[in-house]
Amino acid sequence: MPCKKTALNFVLAALISLILVGCAGGRADDSLYQRLGGEQGVDRLVGELLDEVHADRRIAFLFEGTDRDNLHAVIVEQICAETGGPCTYRGLDMRAAHSGLDIRHDEFDAFVEDLIVAMERVGVPTPAQNRLLAIFAPMREKVVFQ
Ligand code: HEM
Repeated sequence: MPCKKTALNFVLAALISLILVGCAGGRADDSLYQRLGGEQGVDRLVGELLDEVHADRRIAFLFEGTDRDNLHAVIVEQICAETGGPCTYRGLDMRAAHSGLDIRHDEFDAFVEDLIVAMERVGVPTPAQNRLLAIFAPMREKVVFQ
């Protein structure tokens, strides 16, 4: 009998810890999203980024004929999702999104420079800039030469 009771206690304890861990782990780390200024901040950032790339003679031609409003909305959603915000990215995967554009490495670098200018312009603190760059940098191989 005591053995049964101990086993029951054990099961109860395990269940309680599972519930506690589940609650604590269920919330994504949205600190970067918050550092970027949440919904409004990300929206402003993407606006500045697209202004910058459209004015950048090194890469502007790649964006000719694209639907700017749609691109804006999809990139906002992607940054939100990648930084812990309350969004799900529903756009194309990175290879498909850049397929046929044949983007070179120096063009990717130009885009990143424009992103840094945009982050400076909207006042993103340097540590948060670095965190966002660390998320986007590994996407290079899926963007170039597609
Ligand atoms: C890590 C860096 C990059 C990210 C996160 C990114 C993200 C995106 C996203 C989310 C889309 C839209 C996907 C969709 O329509 O569902 C897109 C499309 C596009 N991207 Fe990028 N991009 C990156 C780098 C670049 C670079 C380096 C260039 C050019 C220099 C570029 C040029 C374009 C263009 C022109 C489109 C529109 C394609 C079309 O509508 O036909 N992207 N990108």
